[in-house]
Amino acid sequence: MDLHGKLALVTGGSDGIGREIALQLQAAGADVIVTGRSAEKLQAMAALGFGTIAGDLSVPAGVDTVVSGVAHRPLALLVNNAGVGSEYELDRPETLESAAHCIRTNLDAPIALCTRLLPTLRAQPEAAIVNVTSGLAIAPRAGGSIYCATKAGLRSYTQAIRHLLKDSNVRVIEALPPVVETNMTAGRTGKKMSAHDCAAEIIRGIRTGKSEVNVGMVKLLQLVHSVSPALARRIMIRF
Ligand SMILES: NC(=O)c1ccc[n+]([C@@H]2O[C@H](COP(=O)([O-])OP(=O)(O)OC[C@H]3O[C@@H](n4cnc5c(N)ncnc54)[C@H](OP(=O)(O)O)[C@@H]3O)[C@@H](O)[C@H]2O)c1
Repeated sequence: MDLHGKLALVTGGSDGIGREIALQLQAAGADVIVTGRSAEKLQAMAALGFGTIAGDLSVPAGVDTVVSGVAHRPLALLVNNAGVGSEYELDRPETLESAAHCIRTNLDAPIALCTRLLPTLRAQPEAAIVNVTSGLAIAPRAGGSIYCATKAGLRSYTQAIRHLLKDSNVRVIEALPPVVETNMTAGRTGKKMSAHDCAAEIIRGIRTGKSEVNVGMVKLLQLVHSVSPALARRIMIRF
């Protein structure tokens, strides 16, 4: 996809991987709108020349705000990047609201945005949806059951709508990052990819027409999974 002159919407584009995707789309000549909740972060993005929409994607009103913010504009690229972890623990029913919040943000909101923005995307000569899942969409880790379930759900949804849209002008791309250095992984030790390098691989994938962008170590995970799904699950469950 040629990004020059395209209008792009990046949810969660005010921080982390989404911010890097937004910066690199802008550098490629796209006109970029970013969304998020924090007014401060959005102001910082506006100062860099981005359009901004404030909206909490974990509630229907926030999704409505984002949809109406791009209504009647020639949106050609929808990047469903906003996502959160969950405090859910199996033995603590009081954490179920945290699970529901994660499901609404990571799964319900991208599905709603794909559905409600599809007519606009279809109206462009060339368009794409990029759903940001995770290596954990391939095989879950026990400590992140709800988060992994949302990412596996979004992966499955992405594969299904890619088939539904195969004869249309709308490409459907899944981006699967590894562990990346962002606020989301602040408490995590071990090797992390930079958000810049992660975004660069995703942008390259969009440009070159990939359907799945397996970023960094996720390439290795996919390889293991292709040989033995059981082995991939065994490795990842304790990750
Ligand atoms: N970091 C990793 O290791 C990693 C690995 C695999 C996949 N991913 C996925 O990559 C995506 C980006 O993650 P990240 O690490 O860059 O996260 P991050 O640094 O925490 O940034 C998250 C972005 O999403 C926005 N956001 C969060 N909750 C939102 C909500 N309810 N409504 C609207 N916006 C919301 C945040 O805006 P505010 O701050 O204003 O709320 C922020 O702009 C997520 O989908 C994540 O699951 C990350």
